[in-house]
Amino acid sequence: MKEQYEKPPELYSGLRLHQNENTGGCSPRVLEALTRLTRQNLAFYPPYAEATAACARHLGVAADRVMLVNGLDEGIMSASIAYLRPQAGSGIVPEAVVPEPAFEIFRFDTAVAGGRLVQVMPKPDFVFPLDEVLAAITPSTRVVFLTNPNNPTGVSTPFDAIRTIAKAVPTQAIVFVDEAYADFAGRSFIPELPAYPNVIVGRTFSKAYGLAAIRIGALVGAPAVLDPIRYATPVYSVNIAAVVAVVAALADQDYVNDYLRQVEASKALLYAACDRMKLKYWPSDANFVLVRVGSRIEDVVRGANERGVYLRNRSTEPGCEGCLRIATGLVEHTKRGIAVIEEILCGGA
Ligand SMILES: Cc1ncc(COP(=O)(O)O)c(C=O)c1O
Repeated sequence: MKEQYEKPPELYSGLRLHQNENTGGCSPRVLEALTRLTRQNLAFYPPYAEATAACARHLGVAADRVMLVNGLDEGIMSASIAYLRPQAGSGIVPEAVVPEPAFEIFRFDTAVAGGRLVQVMPKPDFVFPLDEVLAAITPSTRVVFLTNPNNPTGVSTPFDAIRTIAKAVPTQAIVFVDEAYADFAGRSFIPELPAYPNVIVGRTFSKAYGLAAIRIGALVGAPAVLDPIRYATPVYSVNIAAVVAVVAALADQDYVNDYLRQVEASKALLYAACDRMKLKYWPSDANFVLVRVGSRIEDVVRGANERGVYLRNRSTEPGCEGCLRIATGLVEHTKRGIAVIEEILCGGA
């Protein structure tokens, strides 16, 4: 298992199906809003009230329960520093419980913060390992990282498991529910937060809203639980372009809903293609699908790359041997990805 995050190579000339991005781009209204920025806007430190209120309205919570972050990545790092940093004199090394396979950033941020990683290995077909997670919780647990739906599998985490874990962790601990892909699943744990004040939900506008390059996300939770995370985050980490972009993007829900429909159609096409090629896949609640290609994984990822389609080899992640992950965005893009995989595996289709 790698010690440090290996950024995917900077590939921009072909079709990017390797980073779960919105393959269609953001709403045109975002660009229009950005062009209205003035020289003065760029000269002043950015205001957050309007964007925070827009996110809060969108997520159905009060504004004091929302913390804007410079991408959900920043939220995960700040939460790790806040809750996994060893406290001088406590004699405790804070522990992060991570059911695998998981977003790798949880592992790396736990290490950066000085915490100890407690991995829970996957069960067949990525059925959520609730008993194993509960068994991994100790008095030193400070964070349980969950992702719903999960990356790289696309499989959802049962809400009942989240509830049970939230009741089982020590009082100083949080349960961090990463909902980077919840827009695609159409389900969120946010309405349950008042009953589970030790749970923080992380959201991003990188995926469904197509703002990955702008870097904007949000943490949602009880103010007292968010406070230590706010202390661990640079004061003006979200820039003015992100503030303007998220307000404009949230105002154009038709655009997002259309994209969500394309993602559903894309997944159906990919499932049918996998059935044709007799490839195992896991039905996904997200905007990507994990597909088991087996021993030809390297050939497929390299061959697709040579044909200008970028796929992500996830073979080194626990339980994902021989698997690639492919984003399912605009239907035309998915069709191109499928054609390339079929050409490599079946010699043309
Ligand atoms: C599970 C998960 N969480 C967080 C992120 C990061 O989101 P952001 O672009 O907002 O930093 C990703 C990005 O791929 C992700 O897959």
